[in-house]
Amino acid sequence: MDYAIETTPLEKLQCDCLIVGVYQDQQLSASAGAINNSTQGLINKIISRGDLSGKNGETVLINVVPDSPIERILLVGLGENQPLSGKNYRKALLAAVNSLKKPQIKSVVCCLAECDVIAADWQWKTRQIVEVFNDAAYQFIQLKSDKETESRLEKLGIAAPETELASVKAGLAQGRAIAEGVVLTKQLADLPGNICTPTYLAEQALELGKKYPSLDISILEESDMEKLGMRALLSVSRGSRQPAKLITLNYPGGEKNGKPIVLIGKGLTFDAGGISLKQAPGMDEMKYDMCGGATVLGTLLAAAQMQLPLNIIGLIPSSENMPDGDANKPGDILTSMSGKTIEILNTDAEGRLILCDTLTYAERYNPDVVIDLATLTGACLVALGRVPSGLLGNDDALCNALLAASETANDSLWRLPLWEEFQEQLKSNFADLANIGGKDAGTITAACFLSQFAENYHWAHLDIAGTAWRTGQTKGATGRPVPLLCQYLINRAYG
Ligand code: BES
Ligand code: MN
Ligand code: ZN
Repeated sequence: MDYAIETTPLEKLQCDCLIVGVYQDQQLSASAGAINNSTQGLINKIISRGDLSGKNGETVLINVVPDSPIERILLVGLGENQPLSGKNYRKALLAAVNSLKKPQIKSVVCCLAECDVIAADWQWKTRQIVEVFNDAAYQFIQLKSDKETESRLEKLGIAAPETELASVKAGLAQGRAIAEGVVLTKQLADLPGNICTPTYLAEQALELGKKYPSLDISILEESDMEKLGMRALLSVSRGSRQPAKLITLNYPGGEKNGKPIVLIGKGLTFDAGGISLKQAPGMDEMKYDMCGGATVLGTLLAAAQMQLPLNIIGLIPSSENMPDGDANKPGDILTSMSGKTIEILNTDAEGRLILCDTLTYAERYNPDVVIDLATLTGACLVALGRVPSGLLGNDDALCNALLAASETANDSLWRLPLWEEFQEQLKSNFADLANIGGKDAGTITAACFLSQFAENYHWAHLDIAGTAWRTGQTKGATGRPVPLLCQYLINRAYG
């Protein structure tokens, strides 16, 4: 989709559809008022007939606009006539884009950036428009024979006054970058495990490096990992015919020798559980176990496109987890790269095994902070559902910065405690620690396990098991938490 800033006055504008906001109690937004005047009270007529109450998210499409170069008008309810919450603003935008899925509508101009939104400027509002529209336009059709798309939207204009041009331009650039990052993340995540293997992910990373010369990509092979002593990671891939890869992305956009922000993403391209085999129902969704890795790729794409003045390192340990004659067995004990020994009591707790060696590996970058993203525990779904990602970490300042970014980005997070008491649950009779902590507090004990490999730097862990994809009828990747991480990086760069 093409995005552009539209400064043409409404009376001279030409498009397939104009999107304007209407508040409750028959109150019109500025653009709705202007159009109402130039159309002999058309909008007021519709409202007084009772066809639109102005409730947030309600829409009415006016299909004919007599004597106007604007072919259609989409009225969008905004709710009460007072500054909107960020959430309601996005709700109105989503309702608007969902009402435009008609093949005849190709070019639209959106006048919703003029709405007052609490604590938001034109830049933020522009960004949200691009993010919501782009997200709604996403369809995964590459593996279907019929490539017919639902929406034919080609061009989105964002109406803005000349006085706000700089802010809108900045919002547009950020929105485009984030939206593109989200699309990459969703596309990789929606691919099935037979296509999106560790090797495929590594190839995609190399492709990204070709597209963005500011990204340096290198791939560690199993032989490299052996030399580094990454036996926890390698123990997982040993049960699979697909070789493991450790993908590294280096974006040196900041000061020379400045400490980098390290992002680590779980890139498990299919999680069958290993010898502790998962149940059959819903197992297809374990193709999404690489969403953390896909998030790192999407976020680095966006960072490179925004040319953020930061040093960022992305690390993606990638493997399959399969049952096999050579796979990990319950009771096996292995020595991780850190030297700590691990007793595997459940081979399905494999994410922490590939992550722990990567956390140790991250030390060589002398990181400012390390943030890992992982579809790590089903328990996170039990605790928090599919609304917020889980947040745990060893540094309050980092956790608070992530929480603040999540609010701005509308990509929510909820912090869980990482108290000493929980570490007890990981005690092993035979090794330094066990890879599972029993049935209680599964998300916390998983993070406790990781914390033992992240002692030498500021670290936060995002459990995205409930937020990285949707299940059921609308099954598909969400691209979360790319918006949250991009916001965190933007805040770090300019905040
Ligand atoms: N990838 C799964 C976590 C998961 C499960 C995410 C369901 C989303 C939905 C992870 O590797 C796993 O299997 N975790 C186990 C841990 C357990 C054995 C301690 C789990 O959550 O059941
Ligand atoms: Mn598992
Ligand atoms: Zn897993």
